[in-house]
Amino acid sequence: MADRPLAIAALPGDGTGPEVTAEALKVLEAVAKLEGFTYDVEMLDWGGDRYLATGEIIPDGGLDLLRSKDAIFLGAIGHPSVAPGILEKGLLLDLRFKLDQYINLRPVKLLPGVETPLAGRGPADIDFVVVRENTEDLYCGVGGYLKKGTPDEVAVQQAVYTRKGCERCIRWAFEYTRQRNSPKKTLTLVAKTNVLTFGHDLWWRTFQEVAKDYPDVKTDYNHVDACCMWMVKNPDAYDVIVTTNMFGDIITDLGGILQGGMGVAAGANLNPDLRPDGRRSVSMFEPMGGSAPKYTGLDQINPIAAINAMAMLLEHTGQPRAGGRIERAVAHVTSTKMKSQAAGRMGHGTKAIGDLVVAALA
Ligand code: IPM
Ligand code: MN
Repeated sequence: MADRPLAIAALPGDGTGPEVTAEALKVLEAVAKLEGFTYDVEMLDWGGDRYLATGEIIPDGGLDLLRSKDAIFLGAIGHPSVAPGILEKGLLLDLRFKLDQYINLRPVKLLPGVETPLAGRGPADIDFVVVRENTEDLYCGVGGYLKKGTPDEVAVQQAVYTRKGCERCIRWAFEYTRQRNSPKKTLTLVAKTNVLTFGHDLWWRTFQEVAKDYPDVKTDYNHVDACCMWMVKNPDAYDVIVTTNMFGDIITDLGGILQGGMGVAAGANLNPDLRPDGRRSVSMFEPMGGSAPKYTGLDQINPIAAINAMAMLLEHTGQPRAGGRIERAVAHVTSTKMKSQAAGRMGHGTKAIGDLVVAALA
């Protein structure tokens, strides 16, 4: 690991984003002391309020600033006074695309003490990972209108898939499955080859070809609609899923609720490629919950997802022991200290949950 401090950009963002970010940073401070590494955090006020005040979402030079960091921590975006889509596209999606964070990694892991809506299921049954392609598909913004606003209006929204885009994602997913090395050691492609006969045929052919380089990894295929049924009926059958951007968006919300909801679920937007100087490219880590504006300032929002995102950040930036320590502390807190993972019903406030995780680190 580098001897210079780990450089983190923190974008607390909107609504309850700053509150959960504060708890994640509190945990970072404590774990850095215990594990003996140094870091520095640059706080950036990007988000809805700044946009309303200045009209700017990513300020001039902002991308280069982020590129100079080792990692980005994003609290939440989404502001009640900003039309839906503007901040999502102008900040979150733009960062994913421009920083070429082509892997969206979403662990679906039920922690001890956390309630799942699946009857009779526990932590042993729900522990899989979704690898979602993060730069293509319907998210490209390719399309347009014809005769807009007339009765003859036509709207086209195109899904873009490239060989390079699907191959790098699929290959990364095979590597990840190999390293995860679970007893199942199975990578499942989730797509819709029976209907999307061009784009998902490309995914299918690429998956078969790349699989030849990983004879030790078992492969499987599910259509996305069937996958939604199997995730509910037999979640224990999954190890790693690799899928397209749009389907990945949908099935990871299903995964999120299986693991206890938005208070818990975290994700990473990874650019796994090395830069020309050999440094890792900058990746971004976020709780999945959104800005939950109605809970702003009430000390009621669940910070566990943000703390889990911090654990992922540390695992990815060369501090796996710190990441593991946070994971164990979180499991201790969910299993022995929290009544529920729902905002306002945790049995403790936001800050107190952060303190409990800090106490459990040692
Ligand atoms: C997610 C979110 C985003 C997405 C939205 C906020 C644009 O739902 O990270 O899953 O669709 O990717
Ligand atoms: Mn989503």
